[in-house]
Amino acid sequence: MRVDAYEKVTGKALYGADRVLPNMAYAALALAKIGRGTVSDVDTSAALAVPGVLLVETRFELASPGFIMGGQFGFQSLQPMTGDHIAYRGQPIAIVVAETPVAATEAAEAITATYQEEPFALHLDSEGATTLVQEEAIPLPFLADIKLGDADAVIDSSAVQIDATYVHPPQHAVPMELNGGVVEWQGGTLIVHEGTQNANAVRFGLAQQLGIDAAKIEVRSPYVGGGFGQKNSLLVHIGPLALVSQRLGRPVKLVLTRTQTFHNGSFRPVSKQRIRLGADESGKINAVVHEVDQQTSRHDLFIAMHNETSSRLYGYSAFRGRQRLVQTDVQTPGYMRAPFESPSMFAIEQAVDELAYRVGRDPVELRLANDTENDPITGLPFSSRHIGDCLRRGAELFGWSERSPEPRSMRAEDGSLVGWGVAIGNYPASIVAAHASLAAGEDGKVTVAVDGHEMGQGIRSTIALLVARDLGIPVGDVIVRVGDTRYGPQHLTAGSWGTASALPAVHSGLQELRKLLNVAGTGDVDVAAAVADIGHAVEVSAHGLGPGQSADALGQTETGHMAIAGPVFPGFVTFSWIAHFVEVHVEPTTCRVRVPRVVSVADCGRVASPVTAASQVRGGVIWGIGAALREESLVDDRFGGFLNSTLEEYPVMVNADVGSIDVDFVDKPDYQFNPVGVKGLGEVSMVGAAAAVANAVHHATGRRHHRLPIRIEHII
Ligand code: MOS
Repeated sequence: MRVDAYEKVTGKALYGADRVLPNMAYAALALAKIGRGTVSDVDTSAALAVPGVLLVETRFELASPGFIMGGQFGFQSLQPMTGDHIAYRGQPIAIVVAETPVAATEAAEAITATYQEEPFALHLDSEGATTLVQEEAIPLPFLADIKLGDADAVIDSSAVQIDATYVHPPQHAVPMELNGGVVEWQGGTLIVHEGTQNANAVRFGLAQQLGIDAAKIEVRSPYVGGGFGQKNSLLVHIGPLALVSQRLGRPVKLVLTRTQTFHNGSFRPVSKQRIRLGADESGKINAVVHEVDQQTSRHDLFIAMHNETSSRLYGYSAFRGRQRLVQTDVQTPGYMRAPFESPSMFAIEQAVDELAYRVGRDPVELRLANDTENDPITGLPFSSRHIGDCLRRGAELFGWSERSPEPRSMRAEDGSLVGWGVAIGNYPASIVAAHASLAAGEDGKVTVAVDGHEMGQGIRSTIALLVARDLGIPVGDVIVRVGDTRYGPQHLTAGSWGTASALPAVHSGLQELRKLLNVAGTGDVDVAAAVADIGHAVEVSAHGLGPGQSADALGQTETGHMAIAGPVFPGFVTFSWIAHFVEVHVEPTTCRVRVPRVVSVADCGRVASPVTAASQVRGGVIWGIGAALREESLVDDRFGGFLNSTLEEYPVMVNADVGSIDVDFVDKPDYQFNPVGVKGLGEVSMVGAAAAVANAVHHATGRRHHRLPIRIEHII
């Protein structure tokens, strides 16, 4: 079940910009119209003449929030409207506040400026794009390229060799909830209502930007209408919004337009992936070389961690990764659901499929033959790796044994070419230090506050179910508080660590609560009676840490920083796993690709909440189909920025594009990873899905596509 379903469908769930406060004013942004250069003479006179306009500002005293991947708080280090430099098209140059959103928008449109343009670079191979070797540019140990043995030599001496280069286009997350919210000052306290995955970063980033004490900032984000990574840090509109609200002495609401979110939030950068495989004649893979060029901005180095998953996929004996960052004139790209894993799996799992054809072996059988129990890189055992079960169960549910191996050998009744493809995926399992508090009231209800954010993935449901099952009380008697800095630090919820971080903290809190209520053991609890016996409501605090993680990590999250453990732990390595089976139909005359059915089987440890877990997988698969067949952010070579920055022009999958998606789980708890046995699921659900579609398209048509998306014009 989804415990907040009723609130959501009745409109009671309040998202950031849903707040309507007394005396509220409305803001709008004006954006730079050049690809790079400097701005001068921002003319606000026409804007100020629009009836209802209260304020127009073009410059702010705001410190940089710092870059989130540099250990600070902003999606990028560059704070617009603090200087003349324009780093990318779509960078805000002014903010307008008015009595109505219409007046604010009209006034923002009326702002003009003088620009001094400079040449800009938008592609990996553009003139002026700067290529850096990541491990030299960012010398952090966890960003060093992964290397094992002499992979090049092993490949050169292998009987079967595959060498292919794949290009994954830039993509944008398009969550239903646009970026934005409401800010207000109450006395000296700044209150921010904004959909975010990281209330901590908003709070501590604003403290840094405004030079005020974080204790004077509250961030309230009980519901987020989709995050996908774009809401993982402090965005550039919030600091200016706080200052205009302060100047006016009124609450101010700002919601970015979709086009503005395409330029003032992170996106999945373009990447080029070269895969070399060396195998024997049976298809046993001996070595892999994985080389990646990934786009970043001029002002920040967004990391690449593609090797982390590709090096763990199969039991090879040698691996060499090489990751480079290419600086271009865009806002800083960032995490977007399975940020590295989905693009790199599209590459490596197509190469593995190609290998299966080269050696004449069934693609499922070949993958099973390359399975391993130990992590090839560290030599440590995987705490759980049930990818074999995922493949066998998926093949059975899909009816894979009916597949005829030859490309172009299967047809549907309407004459469409039918393709069946398979691919697997993995995603690192991490835990972030988390704080929890549990309170039992005289009414028998239990209130749980824990670090985390509800962005639709169902974390509130997993927490409520854990508590309800443990105590034997109705789910409706559990109140869950997340995403609000009044109740806890609220570390970043991303990287598929949300549930695996929150549940162990709550689990530990439940044990404390049982002690206090004098109901030790595991039986059902009459909470109201236990509280009545004690004579007053009780509250406990607890925390959760990753295996081997120092308790110092708790203090780090209290000051707004990230404290992540995994996927390599003392004595073992943990990943989540998935296998996708996809059927495509390629219509004979139009070459349109349809996806009538998918079967996906995941190993995410214990399934904490079956309904929301299955929903996560369906969402990931749908996004994988979109990545394979539709999505691409087109850049504007004339003026900079992204061209198709609306939902009309950026085609995401809709219901009519999606057939049946059968989801199943191995559902084996991983108690080495944490005492609840859960691993991450949100992102692994997408990993490999695009590759499975591409492999199915190859099976249907006999052609491999090394560039996404695969559209009609590429198939014809
Ligand atoms: Mo996610 S891309 O780790 O929010």
